[in-house]
Amino acid sequence: MARVRLEGIRKIYPDSPQHVAVHGVDLDVADGEFVVLVGPSGCGKSTTLRMIAGLESISAGSLFIDDRAVNDVAPKDRDIAMVFQSYALYPHMTVRQNLAFALKLRSTPKADIDRRVELAATTLGIEGFLDRTPRQLSGGQRQRVALGRAIVREPKVFLFDEPLSNLDAQLRVQMRREIARLHQELRATMIYVTHDQVEAMTLGDRIVVMNKGHVQQIDTPMRLYDHPANLFVAGFIGSPAMNFFTGIITAGDPFEFRASEGAFTLRIPASLAERVRDLTGQVVTMGIRPEDVSVAPAAGPALFAGESTIVDPPVLAPARLDIVEALGNEIFVYATVGAFTITARVSPQPLPLPGEAVTLAFDLAKAHVFDQKDGHRVGKG
Ligand SMILES: Nc1ncnc2c1ncn2[C@@H]1O[C@H](COP(=O)(O)OP(=O)(O)O)[C@@H](O)[C@H]1O
Ligand SMILES: [Mg+2]
Repeated sequence: MARVRLEGIRKIYPDSPQHVAVHGVDLDVADGEFVVLVGPSGCGKSTTLRMIAGLESISAGSLFIDDRAVNDVAPKDRDIAMVFQSYALYPHMTVRQNLAFALKLRSTPKADIDRRVELAATTLGIEGFLDRTPRQLSGGQRQRVALGRAIVREPKVFLFDEPLSNLDAQLRVQMRREIARLHQELRATMIYVTHDQVEAMTLGDRIVVMNKGHVQQIDTPMRLYDHPANLFVAGFIGSPAMNFFTGIITAGDPFEFRASEGAFTLRIPASLAERVRDLTGQVVTMGIRPEDVSVAPAAGPALFAGESTIVDPPVLAPARLDIVEALGNEIFVYATVGAFTITARVSPQPLPLPGEAVTLAFDLAKAHVFDQKDGHRVGKG
């Protein structure tokens, strides 16, 4: 097993010299850690992973595996195994031959190959399929074989590039758990690329959020969710996405947030006041997660009387209910407040009809405030 360290790793593809695919990534992956790179398509995840694997050259910066600089070490000598989205199995070989192939190439003794193949097959529950060809397997079984080919090599580091993207939703969830279990069993260092924030949140010890070739934040899943570094991370992590509205913080006692175009005014609760003190008179973006918004009939706030978890009383804004999505265990409510569409995530409850007036209650103690100039989140909280 191994530690993987990236220092200012940068990539400019020779055929598009104007475009920086990856801007100086600094990342220190601990021995046995599971790190996920996540971000929208084209943000540089695969490029970063392929530079770690040695499949792409590194334009600038240094890459270390344990304490060995490996910038110029050939992929096969990095002791890394990579699993791709396309299974890339040899169609004419049996599962056993597919699993054994890389070891044969390295002239591994036969007894050792047999032992490793059996072990990988048992670990993945494919020992019953060893004599089938890939064509005779389901998608999930093929992906297990692809995982098995990485496992038999007993590499120091596992790299995964969107390995589950070809599977249907149900199978994806199942394989996600298998990969988590595999990590717990092998305790190997794993670096995993996905565009799916749920996969990132559920698998990663730590997550690297990327956008346009830049690292936005490196943190644990819960830190990313509760303490996003900037607007991008706040909007990317969480589904449904965080609500954003722009406005001005006005001085006074108490401070107020006056939303753009006079849509509504919110009194800033004491718990948030400290963080916005230096921003009075400035345009900011306020962010609040759907679960921190509740919905009441227009008549009044009676519904919230029993809310004991809310430190400050919720801040109310008149709204129009647009759409209700009932998922069974919870309801997503979309409502318009002035120029803004707000999503609320509430527990099952009777709700007014679309088009009717409602009152939205914001638990502003849980709100985030972002500096309009650079998108950074304001205050520590
Ligand atoms: N072989 C290549 N040649 C030139 N540009 C590339 C190549 N591969 C990727 N890119 C560009 O590099 C950027 C990052 O791509 P990639 O790492 O594949 O993103 P992701 O995996 O996050 O979707 C994109 O702008 C993409 O167009
Ligand atoms: Mg990719």
